[in-house]
Amino acid sequence: MADPVKILILNGPNLNLLGTREPDIYGHETLTDIGRRCEQRAKALGFEIAMRQSNSEGELIDWIHEAVSKWSAIIINPAAYTHTSVAIMDALKLVNCPIVEVHISNIYKRESFRHHSFVSPVATGVICGLGPAGYEFALEAVAGLLRKKEEV
Ligand code: DQA
Repeated sequence: MADPVKILILNGPNLNLLGTREPDIYGHETLTDIGRRCEQRAKALGFEIAMRQSNSEGELIDWIHEAVSKWSAIIINPAAYTHTSVAIMDALKLVNCPIVEVHISNIYKRESFRHHSFVSPVATGVICGLGPAGYEFALEAVAGLLRKKEEV
């Protein structure tokens, strides 16, 4: 039997506090709830996922490096590092697999400093403003992208 397709889902700073953090913006679901949604969707798509969160830029970068050999795609919500991190952008450039950037909120409807993403120019695509369901949509998108890759 073929090895399962492995997808890495990364979450940046403060996302460990989802559920209680600014619920008017991010809703009431916790990251554990989102992880459960993702597990279900991944199972239906035949994927194996690892859902990780860190408040540290360096740790996120070390995990991105793993994707060079270990993971078939990355889904990443870089949180505030979206708007600041050249280092995360550079790390993502080294990865030769689909990258889907996810934001729970619509960053373009918010403060102007959130309108710029260092990650978007190196991502395959971006899902933004659709709430926690955005993570599941990202898994669907990855399924489509990997199918397309197989066809080439
Ligand atoms: C976020 C948007 C970012 O601007 C913010 O810093 C976050 C979460 C989102 O998912 O909407 O922490 O990435």
